[in-house]
Amino acid sequence: MTSISICELSVHFGGLAAINKISLEIKSGDRHAIIGPNGAGKTTLLKAINGQLSDTKGAVFLGRQEITNLPIQSRTKLGIGCTFQHNNLFSELTVIENIYIALQNRLGIANHLFRKQPISNSMISESHRLLDTFGLSMVKSQVTDTLSYGQQRVLDLAIAIAMKPKALLLDEPTAGMSVLETTNMIRIIEKLPDAVTLILVEHDMNVVFEIAKHITVLHNGKIIGQGTPSKIRNNSVVQEHYLGKNT
Ligand SMILES: Nc1ncnc2c1ncn2[C@@H]1O[C@H](COP(=O)(O)OP(=O)(O)OP(=O)(O)O)[C@@H](O)[C@H]1O
Ligand SMILES: [Mg+2]
Repeated sequence: MTSISICELSVHFGGLAAINKISLEIKSGDRHAIIGPNGAGKTTLLKAINGQLSDTKGAVFLGRQEITNLPIQSRTKLGIGCTFQHNNLFSELTVIENIYIALQNRLGIANHLFRKQPISNSMISESHRLLDTFGLSMVKSQVTDTLSYGQQRVLDLAIAIAMKPKALLLDEPTAGMSVLETTNMIRIIEKLPDAVTLILVEHDMNVVFEIAKHITVLHNGKIIGQGTPSKIRNNSVVQEHYLGKNT
């Protein structure tokens, strides 16, 4: 169980403060949604946490460990997983081969010639467990490129979980999905291990209100609201800036 603490974090792009002195405490095992209009700074915040953006001011902690100056690979090793809208799948390999690579990465035995690496029995059974959990068993031998967009995003999430993250950052996991795919994704996210601290960036308020225990609302790189879903629903400032009266 690992918390994420963000202290006075700022990220500038030229003269623009995409994140403007944000402080935020995300508790161990939380399901924490970050919402806000386009350009609010949500993706930038996730990238500052996972190390994709390193030119930041302020501090980020994973549990008690400061990770502010660590490169992305070190943060991954410490347990920060993520899925972004543009996935990192090996599109010419099969679904199960993508899972094998993730497991090999976690175990530190991956290389580009992965087909030549022996796949142990324990890796095979772990892969099958993951495929089963994520509803991908039926397509395990399919080349990833031939999967639907929704299935590719589910596979991306399965791979993130294969790395056994302590914290998982999801950037718009249901964007571009059909209603059915979205419902499936919600079900899958709800079944993620309780111990994983989840930060969810999402525009679909149905997804947010189904999953989140806490919500932070960003606007112009600043926090304009924070609290439980019911508190956020009834926050007039948030309604004015983002939710709209009918949400
Ligand atoms: N690499 C970059 N270079 C310059 N400006 C950037 C860069 N990345 C983001 N920005 C700007 O920073 C601001 C925040 O962008 P960000 O992508 O974090 O917003 P967002 O809340 O994720 O929006 P959306 O909901 O559209 O995904 C925007 O004004 C954006 O144009
Ligand atoms: Mg974004």
